[in-house]
Amino acid sequence: MIAVTPPMGWNSWNTFGKDIDEKLVFEIADAMVEKGYREAGYEYLVIDDCWSLKERDKDGNLVPDPVKFPHGMKAVADYVHRAGLKFGMYSCAGILTCAGYPSSYDHEFQDARLFAEWEVDYLKYDYCNFPQNADGINRYHIMSMALKASGREICFAACNWGHHDSWNWMRSIGAHMYRSTGDIFDNFRSFMGIFQSQLEHLCQSGPYCFNDMDMLTVGMYNQGNVAIGKPCTDGEYRIQFSLWCLSGVPLMIGADIRNLNPEMEKLLLNRELIRIDQDPECRPPYLVGKRSVMVPEEDRENAVEPLRAVKDQLYTFIKHLSGNEFVIVYYNLFEEERDVSCIFADAGVPYSSGYGFSMRDVFTGEELGVKRDYHIVSVPGHDCKMYLCRLVNCGK
Ligand code: GAL
Repeated sequence: MIAVTPPMGWNSWNTFGKDIDEKLVFEIADAMVEKGYREAGYEYLVIDDCWSLKERDKDGNLVPDPVKFPHGMKAVADYVHRAGLKFGMYSCAGILTCAGYPSSYDHEFQDARLFAEWEVDYLKYDYCNFPQNADGINRYHIMSMALKASGREICFAACNWGHHDSWNWMRSIGAHMYRSTGDIFDNFRSFMGIFQSQLEHLCQSGPYCFNDMDMLTVGMYNQGNVAIGKPCTDGEYRIQFSLWCLSGVPLMIGADIRNLNPEMEKLLLNRELIRIDQDPECRPPYLVGKRSVMVPEEDRENAVEPLRAVKDQLYTFIKHLSGNEFVIVYYNLFEEERDVSCIFADAGVPYSSGYGFSMRDVFTGEELGVKRDYHIVSVPGHDCKMYLCRLVNCGK
């Protein structure tokens, strides 16, 4: 079974764009094993757009670029499989991919058979150059069926950027994950905007079909293909990774993991954060002390700055995990250090209940002991604090 919990892996697009080849894939596969990513759960190694020639062959088959992939795709898949990983590829529902390569419109069953022959385990399926009169929902259903007909179990990573409210129908057409927004860029506003826009849809994300908030930019520091705007700080990357884990969405790393800053490597390999992402109950986070969403619906169109519409830029979320555990997270979206708090009554645990939370810092492992009634902590500007919690009976 696939996508029982959010798929995890690495994707070439954010850092490498069109500059992909088999040497890169082999080195990334080695790095995933040697640096512990495979062990931590990152299992898919996915190449994105720009892997093929610009023309199909005389039989209408897609052809891997012989300069980039001289031994063909089956050899690449074999290498990735020998490393104990799964191999992912990319195509598109339109006439051409976003970068102008042949795409699977009206070739769905033929292409799916070819991917299965190459022993591909994951297909990212984009939405560029889609014919105006064609049915966007049906075309995703067709590729889903084509993958099923291939006889191979292939994770179907649909990527229609949220068109036609993808969260309402992707599960029913058999997708395992669905990109619900436009592309992420390696800056704070970009990933905050993505999270804001999906928070209210996360209740529809769960086992076998997850909302995909796009590949992570954690650790990229504006190196690579999606570098637009102000580079992120380490605190902002902590916010990004914690938001993705809190949301229980796919974790596809976009950075060059061969040479990652050690602090960022530690972040991406943090087992507690990954456990929070992979929790089998897949519950969305709950915003404590505020109603439903971070930006009111009527203000969303004008919310250019992250959360501009909300005066108070301090956020506390609670997420229910399996095994009677909880996560409490504090976000400080101000530039300066601020105190952020959780009134436990707002999180369902009033003082009169006699219960409090035992709390452990997810980033440092520090035990805070048992807190009752409320918890308050100082959080640096554009950073977060995250705690794993259990309910403890404190007596009267
Ligand atoms: C975009 C997609 C990106 C990347 C790119 C490749 O449409 O959202 O994630 O795949 O195409 O050209």
